[in-house]
Amino acid sequence: MSAPAPFRDASRPVAERIEDLLGRLTLEEKVDQLHQCGIGDANPNNLAARADEFRATYGSFILNGAQADLATRNALQRMCVDQSRLGIPAIFGCDVIHGYRAIAPIPLAQACAWDTELVRRACAATAEMAHAHGVDWTFAPMVDHCVDPRWGRVAETFGESAFAASRFAEASVRGYQEGATPIAACLKHYVGYGASEGGRDYSPTEVSPQSLWDNHLPPFEAGVRAGAKSVMSAFNDLNGVPTSANRHTLTEILRERWKFDGLVVSDWNAVLQLLNQGFAATEAEATARAIAAGVDLNMADGFYRQHLPQLVRAGVVPLAAVDEALRRVLRVKFEIGLFERPFIEANALTSAAPTVAQLALCEEFAVRSLVLLKNESDTLPLPATAKRVALIGPLATERAALLGSWAQQGRGDETPSIAEELRVRLPHGFELRVESGCAIEGGARDGFADALAAARDADCVVLALGEQWTMSGENGSRSTIRLPGLQEELALAVAALGKPTALVLVTGRPVELHAIEPRVAAIVAAWQPGSRAGAAIARVLLGEANPSGRLAITWPRTTGQIPLFHQMRPRARREPEGCYQDVPTTPHYAFGHGLSYTRFDYGQIRLSHASVRAGETLVAEVTVTNRGTRAGRETVLWFIRDPAASITRPLRELKHFESAELAAGEARVFRWEIVPERDLAFPDAVGARRLEAGEIQVFAAERSVTFTVLA
Ligand code: BGC
Repeated sequence: MSAPAPFRDASRPVAERIEDLLGRLTLEEKVDQLHQCGIGDANPNNLAARADEFRATYGSFILNGAQADLATRNALQRMCVDQSRLGIPAIFGCDVIHGYRAIAPIPLAQACAWDTELVRRACAATAEMAHAHGVDWTFAPMVDHCVDPRWGRVAETFGESAFAASRFAEASVRGYQEGATPIAACLKHYVGYGASEGGRDYSPTEVSPQSLWDNHLPPFEAGVRAGAKSVMSAFNDLNGVPTSANRHTLTEILRERWKFDGLVVSDWNAVLQLLNQGFAATEAEATARAIAAGVDLNMADGFYRQHLPQLVRAGVVPLAAVDEALRRVLRVKFEIGLFERPFIEANALTSAAPTVAQLALCEEFAVRSLVLLKNESDTLPLPATAKRVALIGPLATERAALLGSWAQQGRGDETPSIAEELRVRLPHGFELRVESGCAIEGGARDGFADALAAARDADCVVLALGEQWTMSGENGSRSTIRLPGLQEELALAVAALGKPTALVLVTGRPVELHAIEPRVAAIVAAWQPGSRAGAAIARVLLGEANPSGRLAITWPRTTGQIPLFHQMRPRARREPEGCYQDVPTTPHYAFGHGLSYTRFDYGQIRLSHASVRAGETLVAEVTVTNRGTRAGRETVLWFIRDPAASITRPLRELKHFESAELAAGEARVFRWEIVPERDLAFPDAVGARRLEAGEIQVFAAERSVTFTVLA
């Protein structure tokens, strides 16, 4: 028997296997390997290819949608392995963003739990489920920086802090890639996409080089350092050079500075869209620009496949560029073992509904990500004396809306509503009346009378308001963050009855509460909590769980305040100069805000030293005491401010966070070890880091102290 070709020999180094395979491929076979073909329709914004367009030589397929199951995947893989000349397996990608069938809260909600370990565990559990359904590679985590909640994709972000997004990026990469059943991760959308003008999706972005280094690049760098196997180039035009043809970001920063050796995939049709964006006159030109910039794998539009052979033959694109892109694609395939294990075997998870353990994790995460924004007169938990509860609003009986826009294979019929979960949990002798009042969107007031009658008869009212899942996520931008339809009017009419009223919001973004907030006693931001939304919300309403989420994004009062975020730079004049004349300039709820059913007191911050210099460390400590009568979880967010620097620094910059459960009466010391080069240095406009001598203020809750950085 002759020895297998070197590229098939798993005992050889990956680099050797790649070179051997490269030497055997024709130009046409090479460019087919750089093509990624969509087969499913889970993303309503993108049209998949027809089955008769699939080729055995394609490098990759996207496995979204109802048709995307393990059998389809393995059948396609069979085609690639058996019907192509060299039998190169394809890699199957999928948008597994916050769960697979068992749906966890949207990433914006996840960030509000401030728990990297929970993120890691959720991603590892999701990877197991996704892999059992044929997924080798997820297009996650999304680590875009966004301070504009009009942009629907704010729901997919980890909030507005680059520091927090960096930690969650690392945790997700580790969860997906290092769990019991790893799948490859993809940092997206590289880079600046979250700055879409006016919050309109697919729009150009103007991001200053300083902000790029301060806010947009750090989560990608953190994800690269954590070992992410891929990066997705974005849709946006970045300061005049679209990110899917941007050599500065894709090659100079990503590969040359950060030494990223994974693959770069373009976002869906991003190469084709270079024509729409006015960056290329012809398809061939768009193709040449994308590959020259550093896009390796071409998602969906097929431009590489169609144009690269001719471009190479004409000498416009060097063959070396094609080979280099192919090396990166093949490296990932070799590293994840596709050549040894091209097929995925069905297991217990493949056809089964989500397991008890998976749903329990979703529920834990959902509870942890709920943010209690307001709780006047301890309106929540619902008191034992409130025997008649009215649950009012269009979100009361909704199911799919609880899952969010990227609920991959998530099913409304497996998702109990808030009404259902509240009903089963209400103690014996309680009565629940449920009225929608109005639809999520639309102008019909037919349901108002019944809703008001139910509220009138009740001892207390829970309003369940919010958005449909289609109102956030990709292509889910809105010109206003007000609640859609007649929901605000319904809320005001119900609140006017004077009953103790708690508002539960199911949304993919912060929403305008300017009119409603003064009229309701309690508000819970539930976000889109996923498969166990109903249970999580009911447990918090009834006090079975103590809310502990903290806002990972600033909550504006009105749409007109956008952008509003905690890491703003100081203004030239002090208040009241420069403030709005009609609304306060402050947010409705600040970044980090979140209440509990217990109360935490912070002592003074203690520092180990009054000064620090490069090479040394400084320890900050604060004692937090649970002064209430029940256990609760507190998150300490550590911020700094550098009040005078060679480049002006933000009013507050998050630098460390930690969350812990405290028993009633318990005091706990939270600690932050400050490493000056890591925590106090800041980038300039070309990404060089500066550590400057001078004062630094440290904040934890309302406490603050100052220390000095010595030259
Ligand atoms: C989205 C990406 C997604 C891709 C594949 C695009 O439209 O922007 O986030 O990964 O489609 O479904």
